[in-house]
Amino acid sequence: MIFKDKEILVFNSIEQIIESAVEKWAGLAEKAVGERGRFTAALSGGRTPVNLYKALAEEKGLPWDRTHIFIVDERFVPFDHEDSNYRMINSTLLKQIEIPTKNIHPVITDENTPILSAERYENEIKSFFNTIKNGTPQFDLVLLGIGGDGHTASLFPGTPVLKETRRLTAAVTPPDESMKERISLTLPVINNAGSILFMAAGEDKAGVIREIIEDNSALPAAMVRSERGKLVFLLDEGAASLLA
Ligand code: 6PG
Repeated sequence: MIFKDKEILVFNSIEQIIESAVEKWAGLAEKAVGERGRFTAALSGGRTPVNLYKALAEEKGLPWDRTHIFIVDERFVPFDHEDSNYRMINSTLLKQIEIPTKNIHPVITDENTPILSAERYENEIKSFFNTIKNGTPQFDLVLLGIGGDGHTASLFPGTPVLKETRRLTAAVTPPDESMKERISLTLPVINNAGSILFMAAGEDKAGVIREIIEDNSALPAAMVRSERGKLVFLLDEGAASLLA
């Protein structure tokens, strides 16, 4: 279903979402490697994509030697901390596949402050994409989840990062004090991606999904707009249950 500039795909189960996401990944990877000799993907944390990463780890035929993995957002914790997105992505995917270490671009969180980590990550992205001054790097794929409050990446409602128009990364203090300090990609770089894939499952997401897709919502996830193609939402029936 196409709704404005969004493609909404609804599946009976998270397993079918994952099957579709693996297919899309394979198609995008093949195209990118064919055209540019490499495929760049930025991955989110959270629960929803865990089984996708495990499914991708089974796909030994994908061009992993030409694939570069970045992180959409990270918690300011050590890599071995249970909250680390890198730790989850590494255990479910990266250490299961033949991917060169130089192709893995985590957010280095052993800097003294989240701001220093964000700056270091921005420099890593800039040098990898070899961006001309003020150019915005273009990831082939950015994979996003949606929080119950409408956040995506670490772009939480009401945080200054939502106004960022120039920086590629930012340090973010989540509104919920119990949450760890974050480092996140910003909207300019997310919206510049070749493909943006939202994944959401479960009835508990139905309200926020409807608002993001159907209303002129100001929620962070509604501020994600693909400047280069279509925004694809992979939803299960629960998450899509309030869509008209
Ligand atoms: C994170 C993620 C975050 C996640 C949403 C949805 O660091 O936690 O990047 O943005 O995608 O919170 O999380 P679930 O997939 O667990 O619902």
